[in-house]
Amino acid sequence: MSEAKRLAGEKAIEFVEDGMIVGVGTGSTVAYFIDALGRVKDRIKGAVSSSEQSTARLKQHGIEVLDLNHTGTLSLYVDGADECDPHKRLIKGGGAALTREKIIAEASKQFVCIVDPSKQVPVLGKFPLPVEVIPMARSLVAREILALTGGQPVWRDGTVTDNGNVILDIHNLSITDPVAMEREINQIPGVVSVGLFARRPADIVIVGGEPPVVLR
Ligand code: 5RP
Repeated sequence: MSEAKRLAGEKAIEFVEDGMIVGVGTGSTVAYFIDALGRVKDRIKGAVSSSEQSTARLKQHGIEVLDLNHTGTLSLYVDGADECDPHKRLIKGGGAALTREKIIAEASKQFVCIVDPSKQVPVLGKFPLPVEVIPMARSLVAREILALTGGQPVWRDGTVTDNGNVILDIHNLSITDPVAMEREINQIPGVVSVGLFARRPADIVIVGGEPPVVLR
């Protein structure tokens, strides 16, 4: 699959225009995008990063990492996903970076999602849905999610997000109304964000392959 990830990541460079500040997601597919961005770094103003992991890789390439508070709206955000449905709605957060990813997606005019073919699904939910939670609310949120969705919350023990929080992964879901589920889980006190990107889905999905497929 890493070849498909590389092809998707490199294809996304076609969306980068001169002088842009590029929003950059997190994960192994995005790592290929960052490496390709490094090769055109003189054409861009810099990047806004969604994680410490991506920040480190961007800096290794000599790409300036900027604060979203100082950049305003971004023209382009490029990120991977754990699942993608036919409406370009996503599950994200396998790398625990979902909250900053969601912030940058919201701040961006165009969200280009880069995936390998295994990420395409008819209905979201086979991949356990990540939820970032304030540590003291972990058990409360788990109980409320079980009651709300019927899914099984599992604490991703040992993982602390860049924001100092914990992750619950919700197993055994079949998400027929992702917009409603995103809204309802977001309303539970203690939830920082849920890894459903449905209210603000991707605009374009690039599926890695020979050749890559661009879904608009
Ligand atoms: C990180 C994410 C990633 O985009 C997602 O986990 C996909 O990762 P990869 O490209 O390594 O398969 O949401 O929080």
